[in-house]
Amino acid sequence: MSGGGPLVLRGIGELVTNAAGDEPDNLGLIADAVVVARDGLIEWAGPAGSPAAPAPRATDLDLAGAALIPGFVDSHNHLVFAGDRAQEYEARMRGLPYSAGGIKATVAATRAASDATLRALLGRHVAEALAHGTTTLEIKSGYGLTVDDEARACRLAREFTNEVTFLGAHVVPPEYAAEADAYVDLVTGPMLEACRPYARWIDVFCDKGAFTVAQTERILRAGAAAGLGLRLHAAQLAPSGAVRLGVSLGAAAVDHCTFLEDDDVAALAGSGTVCTLLPGAEFSTRQPYPSARRLVDAGVAVALASDCNPGSSYTCSLPFCLAIAVREMGLNPAEALKAATWGGARALRREDVGRVAPGARADLVALRAPSYRHLTYRPGVNLIDQVWRAPRESTVM
Ligand code: NIG
Ligand code: FE
Repeated sequence: MSGGGPLVLRGIGELVTNAAGDEPDNLGLIADAVVVARDGLIEWAGPAGSPAAPAPRATDLDLAGAALIPGFVDSHNHLVFAGDRAQEYEARMRGLPYSAGGIKATVAATRAASDATLRALLGRHVAEALAHGTTTLEIKSGYGLTVDDEARACRLAREFTNEVTFLGAHVVPPEYAAEADAYVDLVTGPMLEACRPYARWIDVFCDKGAFTVAQTERILRAGAAAGLGLRLHAAQLAPSGAVRLGVSLGAAAVDHCTFLEDDDVAALAGSGTVCTLLPGAEFSTRQPYPSARRLVDAGVAVALASDCNPGSSYTCSLPFCLAIAVREMGLNPAEALKAATWGGARALRREDVGRVAPGARADLVALRAPSYRHLTYRPGVNLIDQVWRAPRESTVM
């Protein structure tokens, strides 16, 4: 997209701009729109009939009435891994419950893989996400769990995105089974030091079978002192105080909000912390879907993300997650799309993505459909027609 003349898209039947900001179901729609991008940034977006619209030129691309949306901002993924756990998935579909313990199988496979293998797998998954319309992707470590393996995961992730999260506190690895607090010392000390150069965020899996609220607080405080932003796996398997802890520490997002208590919802409402829902995880673990409606009605800022990982949610398709959120979690199609674009951007504290406005990155997705509504109305059909993604250096960070 860089170099040469501007990219001019016209004949956009329906443009989603998200210009109305935080209003959950206002997509800032423009009919018969034109978008102009230059050097990876949006220069102009508006109705074709506007006096400010550029005059047509032979190099303009005509979308012939298709819908154009901001690229999805997928704020929660675990993509540095080797191997898969298809058998574990199949066992769950036969009735076995999901447990945090399965993570250890992926840790063993990931430790045994070469850099080249992990890089190739990362590349494949990132390409898969792009083909499903995701143009901004957060990637966590968390399947290394030694100083060197976690640093390697963060370094490799950084080759693909600036949104790297250090998740050394995913589970306590087998070699520390009897001494979880010693592992927390490692995470908050040498491991944090080794991962910090590559990471923007720190995350902790605070749940049954993983880390306690007290351990989580120690780890998040150490991460904040090292200059990292905070995010959290907060209530995936059971309610805990983790959501309120995340809010009180000013986390950008608390994720996996599956089991929420009224106090959690009250704490989230009006806070600067986004609540991230991950419908793919509930789908693949057969857990109950949380009510996104309850959150939106309480004034909580909601993001939808894919949680792509080999254990609990092996999908990078946000359209799939949107369809579930609409069918099972009480969102309308506009709210779901907003949560996966604007909401994801807020969860990453980014203003340059998740919207189509002058100065934002030109991360755009043309649909093989006349309206964004088709994304959830036609589940399982990949309607992503064309994706434009600004070069990495256009990122404001
Ligand atoms: O986000 N909850 C913790 N981590 C992952 C699952 C990881 C796995 O099962 O491999 C998640 O769902
Ligand atoms: Fe997760």
